[in-house]
Amino acid sequence: MNLLIKLLADGKFHSGEELGLALQISRSAIWKRLRKLETFTHLDIQKVKGKGYRLTTPLSLLDSKQLKLTFQHWPIKVLNNVDSTNTECFRLLANNLTAPFAVTAEQQSNGKGRRGRQWISPFGQNLYFSLLIGLKNGSTQLQGLSLSVGLAVLNTLKKAGLATVGLKWPNDLLVNNKKIAGILLEINGDPADICHVVIGIGINVNMLLNGQIDQAWTSLQQELNNLVDRTTLLLDLNNSLYQYLKIHFQKGFIALKEEWQNNNLWQDKMVTLLQGNQPIYGKMLGVDDTGALKLLINNEIQHFNAGEVSLRLATSPNNES
Ligand code: BTN
Repeated sequence: MNLLIKLLADGKFHSGEELGLALQISRSAIWKRLRKLETFTHLDIQKVKGKGYRLTTPLSLLDSKQLKLTFQHWPIKVLNNVDSTNTECFRLLANNLTAPFAVTAEQQSNGKGRRGRQWISPFGQNLYFSLLIGLKNGSTQLQGLSLSVGLAVLNTLKKAGLATVGLKWPNDLLVNNKKIAGILLEINGDPADICHVVIGIGINVNMLLNGQIDQAWTSLQQELNNLVDRTTLLLDLNNSLYQYLKIHFQKGFIALKEEWQNNNLWQDKMVTLLQGNQPIYGKMLGVDDTGALKLLINNEIQHFNAGEVSLRLATSPNNES
């Protein structure tokens, strides 16, 4: 199947004969494999008499050979399909793989988002990346970690040519109020002491259509109007992550706080914080030294940790203040 998808990735027509020759199988066997491929990947494969088969939109597949050769700082496992790259990291840890290590996949069948949501993860279109690291002093090192990771992702997207991307506390990346990337940190062990943390990053790269997503979203391809090389993007993401984690673990989030605030999309805007069913209105003042949100509520500054809260722009007339 790998070879078949690689041959079709260019989005051009390939005759059954050509594909059969490449795979050393008959044309009818090719047809069966293409059906299987469609079921497995949900990709749209068009068949036109006299021309052959093609993918209706070209793909930039992960180049596992290039990744194995050029990926730096920690080893990476490249998978075709997995339930969740975060879950796979914890499975590998349970099987005694030594941290740090990374996992990526072409597709996730059970991608996880924050607050129990699903992260829609179609085949070959986006980046699904997880890095597992060990922490010796969990409570201090975890402070603001997801915000530092947000900066690493922001930097990668800017390097890819996206000038208009910004951060939404605690760790969403938005372009014109549409989500382009998200981060999910999961901890194993004692968060106050010795523990492991999986840093899961999802970036919408070449996704053009997806009716399954229930919030405003965009992708790099939608913004830049060209097919983005996912392997290059992943290598850049990994290097950026390494740089930001180094600063975070050597100096703490405080060293990155100003950079975070400079990219805070909702600085000084009126926002609504949802904590359970309780909406709290306030003015976004930025973040404190630990990465907690600072809100001005009735002339009093209050601090909120990320945990299970979410932030919206307030719909009140004060929105623009
Ligand atoms: C969010 O914004 O809700 C967080 C999304 C995190 C998605 C990534 S994709 C790679 C990793 N594996 C998962 O199952 N989730 C994270």
